[in-house]
Amino acid sequence: MADLYRLVYYSRNRVADGPEALDTAISSILEASRRNNARDNVTGALMFNSGCFAQVLEGRREAIEDVFERIQQDERHGDVSLLAFEPASRRAFANWSMGFVGASVHETMRYSGTAEASGFDPSRMTGDALFETLVRLAIEEEKA
Ligand SMILES: Cc1cc2nc3c(=O)[nH]c(=O)nc-3n(C[C@H](O)[C@H](O)[C@H](O)COP(=O)(O)O)c2cc1C
Repeated sequence: MADLYRLVYYSRNRVADGPEALDTAISSILEASRRNNARDNVTGALMFNSGCFAQVLEGRREAIEDVFERIQQDERHGDVSLLAFEPASRRAFANWSMGFVGASVHETMRYSGTAEASGFDPSRMTGDALFETLVRLAIEEEKA
């Protein structure tokens, strides 16, 4: 695709504490994401960790701008920090309308009861490093 762009951001989770509230929020985010992104030819991956979301979105520039506009208005998170928005030569998540790569981390947190359990903090990462982390987690998840 000639006009392929990639966007990387992270944000602070604002969903009320508790595993049920989180499960419900993540299920509803993924349901809307998969429906809309399949329609708009957007692909990517979403990670939840240490009280943060991190997400990669790939697609036509206008499609990415539209979805990111909606995402920024969403009250389930805040302090949305854009790390990268640039042309890309190919899709890294071609088969994922929105892959969720934080499931294992999410499980660990549920049972340990601490957001710090994994020690991963996307706010300390560059866009490239965050992108590479999501690609690596997606590959691990595809193998599982
Ligand atoms: C962390 C996070 C990631 C999201 N990712 C997407 C996404 O990739 N695509 C999408 O359409 N909506 C995404 N959403 C949901 C949007 O904010 C919004 O609720 C949704 O697009 C509305 O869709 P609807 O009008 O079809 O219900 C995300 C929300 C959050 C909090």
